[in-house]
Amino acid sequence: MVVLTVAIDGPAAAGKGTIAKALARELGLRHLDTGSLYRAVALRVLGGEDAVAVARGLGPDDLADPRLRQPEVAQEASRVAAIPEVRAALLDFQKAFARAEGGAVLDGRDIGTVVCPEAEVKLFVTASAEARAARRHAEQVAAGQESSLERTLAEIRARDARDEGRDHAPLRAAGDAVVIDTSGLGIDEAVARALGVARARL
Ligand code: C5P
Repeated sequence: MVVLTVAIDGPAAAGKGTIAKALARELGLRHLDTGSLYRAVALRVLGGEDAVAVARGLGPDDLADPRLRQPEVAQEASRVAAIPEVRAALLDFQKAFARAEGGAVLDGRDIGTVVCPEAEVKLFVTASAEARAARRHAEQVAAGQESSLERTLAEIRARDARDEGRDHAPLRAAGDAVVIDTSGLGIDEAVARALGVARARL
């Protein structure tokens, strides 16, 4: 049986979630959005709980909360993600998900470097901070949420700085990752490129 692991990393709002979902659908693989794990920890930390204790006891109900997509939860996620004990507590679940039968697509910040360094396919999906902020702002407006382009850009830059600057598992492309810059690409084109890379390794 073919077991293919696809590791997709990149900064916020570069399109990696959309690409990950499309690849999972097209290739018949399971998908894990690993950012949702850090967001789930962050949401409970904002409610006053201890980050490490929450990370050690995270359950499926935590991942289903619609508040995980809120901007303040994203910011707090990048703070709890800098705590080594939080990362360690979430690592086994991610590794087990990747190894389970049938293959998987995982997207996050450290999949190709730490969680699945042996992945057959590694993509680093990126775009300029301005392009990412414009996209996230448009999504928030379309969802009827109050949004400002300037604030969204500032939030993206703050999160990039924390994710790239932390000591443990910082955001960076694995040496063997294929970089896809989506700044000037429509989503269909970006997905087609990613699928082309993955299919070439089947
Ligand atoms: O991808 P998403 O924006 O949902 O991730 C939220 C935060 O979780 C990121 O800014 C990052 O700090 C953290 N994260 C991480 N490692 C991952 C996935 C997410 O540190 N593999």
